[in-house]
Amino acid sequence: MKKICVVIGARPQFIKHAPVELELKKHFNLISIHTGQHYDKKMSDVFFNELGINKPKYMLNVGSFSHGKQTALMLEKIEDVLMLEKPDAVMVYGDTNSTLAGALAANKINIPVIHIESGLRSYNKTMPEEINRILTDNLSSYLFAPTETAETNLNKEGITQSVFNVGDVMFDSLLLAKSVIGTNLEEKQQILATIHRPYNTDNCERLLDILFHLNSLEKKVVFPIHPRTSGILKSNGILLQEFGNIDFIDPVSYFDLIRLQMQSICIITDSGGVQKEAYMLKKKCITIRSETEWVETLENGWNNLVFEDLYKIKDLLNVIPGAHRDDLYGAGNSSVLISQILIDKI
Ligand code: UD1
Ligand code: UDP
Repeated sequence: MKKICVVIGARPQFIKHAPVELELKKHFNLISIHTGQHYDKKMSDVFFNELGINKPKYMLNVGSFSHGKQTALMLEKIEDVLMLEKPDAVMVYGDTNSTLAGALAANKINIPVIHIESGLRSYNKTMPEEINRILTDNLSSYLFAPTETAETNLNKEGITQSVFNVGDVMFDSLLLAKSVIGTNLEEKQQILATIHRPYNTDNCERLLDILFHLNSLEKKVVFPIHPRTSGILKSNGILLQEFGNIDFIDPVSYFDLIRLQMQSICIITDSGGVQKEAYMLKKKCITIRSETEWVETLENGWNNLVFEDLYKIKDLLNVIPGAHRDDLYGAGNSSVLISQILIDKI
């Protein structure tokens, strides 16, 4: 069996990896390396337990630092593992510092890189994720794009070899979740919110402005709070009780987050993954960003961008979206397609 080392480290990567691991482990010797970018039980362990993901062979326990230091520590530790394991390829997901570190470590010692969720672009280079994506795509030998737009983005940058539009592995993850939790959860008169991007959180005034607007909505807001966001509120002495209309809860498991989305009338978020899930679940989304890499979700009012103009959220809650494309993110068989291609190529 050929050997693939998989580098994961942040919450959305555990969720993306679950269906891919299920499929790839039938054909490859799959070795997982957990960088430790996310380490709280509710940001890491919970996903391994719930989704039945294999315990990583390597726990690098890098933890939280500035971007440069965190990426550098990961790079050093991943290189050590790769020198020892000598895999035939290294697989990375998405756009986090763990993604870039994995791709760079492999590239430096001439191991081919497989990038899943390749070709996404927000065209906003102030986002650390945008730099991570561009660099990772340029370091990769096999690029799995989730959408036609992503494939076109790569082609526009001159990346045309070994690009495969296989649909989105998060659609596979969602089907996995639905098979466990069912499809007919009753909608409640509530809104689900998640906010964690640095440009919405690092400046406490900005974060308070967002919370003020959420607090003034007519429907109750359920808000599983990311540790970055709770950390900033805490260090600024902000009491969550001040926002009576917002039900702040700890980060929840993946199945619980899907349940909460199904039960909500609308999703308000700045998360990449949650925007897509809202679309797949046919829930209207309001994205607190000035642009999105998931541009297809904006069609027909399913997703709406709001940034400076937070006052628009109220009116957007009344907008009824138009036609929906069920095949936007593929057929829910991305993991199988990825596996088939890799069997042939590696
Ligand atoms: C990271 C990714 C982002 C992704 C998000 C998913 C980068 C550059 N950013 O952002 O693209 O959308 O993960 O959730 O890779 N913290 C804890 N416990 C944890 C993890 C983090 O308390 O288990 C706190 C620490 O104070 C840390 C902060 O959260 O400094 C931010 O964590 P970090 O992983 O650096 O960035 P995220 O905002 O999570
Ligand atoms: N998610 C979760 N629990 C939460 C919040 C989010 O399981 O409390 C899931 C969500 O369903 C999606 C993924 O985490 O699958 C998105 O991760 P996140 O928003 O942290 O990162 P992004 O997608 O923006 O990189």
